Amino acid sequence: MSYTVLVTGGCGFIGANFVRYLLTERPDWRVVNIDKLTYAGNQANLADLADHPAYSFVHGDICDEALVNDLFSRHNVHAVVHFAAESHVDRSITGPDAFIRTNINGTFILLEAARNYWLGQQRQTDASRFLHVSTDEVFGSLGPTGYFTEETPYDPRSPYSASKASSDHLVRAYFHTYGLPVLLTNCSNNYGPYQFPEKLIPLILNNAQEGKALPIYGDGKNVRDWLYVVDHCEAIVRVLEQGALGGSYNIGGHNEKTNLDIVELLCDLLDKKIAPLPGNAPRRSLITFVRDRPGHDRRYAIDASKIERELGWRPKYTFEQGIEETVDWYLANRSWMAGVLNGSYQKYYESMYGARTEDKE
Ligand code: NAD
Ligand code: TYD
Repeated sequence: MSYTVLVTGGCGFIGANFVRYLLTERPDWRVVNIDKLTYAGNQANLADLADHPAYSFVHGDICDEALVNDLFSRHNVHAVVHFAAESHVDRSITGPDAFIRTNINGTFILLEAARNYWLGQQRQTDASRFLHVSTDEVFGSLGPTGYFTEETPYDPRSPYSASKASSDHLVRAYFHTYGLPVLLTNCSNNYGPYQFPEKLIPLILNNAQEGKALPIYGDGKNVRDWLYVVDHCEAIVRVLEQGALGGSYNIGGHNEKTNLDIVELLCDLLDKKIAPLPGNAPRRSLITFVRDRPGHDRRYAIDASKIERELGWRPKYTFEQGIEETVDWYLANRSWMAGVLNGSYQKYYESMYGARTEDKE
């Protein structure tokens, strides 16, 4: 029987890239994707794979205990790769409830389902894995120097990062208490195709094409460590296949940039690649400093030496390659962006593939 991976949140940014990666790189595995299709979940991200024989989509909520329990037994799940989450810091500030529900309760329900199925029904094998995809934001905010290691104490400062930290603690507790075969990854900021345009890079790319203001929070000197999403997907598979049970792995791009650097670079790339703004103004002229995010973490930087040393993973893409591919992808997929912004991707998907909200079997 082929190895079956339950991916949660596979219609979101990283999840969709991951499903795509698995179906290409592990052609003998089966992928079951459960996604609630919140505002951030987009079936069009995987439209070309909808009929792939190794892929099944389930429209559902990870907080639905009966559904999640049923998925484990119906598909004989060997591994879980858990992406589903509310993921945007700004939304967690204005409306934290959904973050507590999905990120904490949802993770708890998945852990219980895995425990019931693998341990309760003696279905656990040497290959059973529960891989929890988390963020570097659980470690808090760095000053100008230093790096987050796997030993850095947790110090989350937004409702988003606090909810992810809670879920990380639950996952570790299930390893120590019940012997559930868990793995954790804490990754830095991702960029690449299919990212919802509320996040910095796609938001700036969209606004800069349309000649709209480019909002930079505070002084623009906050630092993030950017990683191309395909490198993240590869790291997750490496951890899934070779990681030490109960262990966590920090994943990062060795690529620190201020927000202002990122925005200026995107402006310059667009100036080179597409028609100039009216009056030939450089796109940098659209930069607008706006009120800072409350509790805005100053700097994130990952020490990824453990995953490199123990599992031999390093990012394959340089930032220059990754950002060039990303800009080209958004330029070539303007209809994707338009669909995301006006919600029409759902209608587009249904017109092409029917209203498939049930398991394809
Ligand atoms: P995203 O917001 O783009 O996608 C989240 C997906 O989860 C969506 O498809 C959404 O519909 C789905 N979802 C939300 N609530 C659900 C629920 N209750 N049940 C089922 N599905 C639900 O997020 P992303 O940027 O792809 O992030 C994926 C994971 O990676 C998250 O756990 C996030 O914390 C983590 N992460 C993200 C980054 C980053 O830079 N984006 C970095 C490190 C870690
Ligand atoms: P974001 O993409 O929301 O990721 P995160 O908050 O998880 O790091 O933001 C990346 C950085 O860009 C963060 O420091 C906030 C900043 N930012 C802006 O300056 N302007 C914006 O419009 C957005 C969305 C983010």
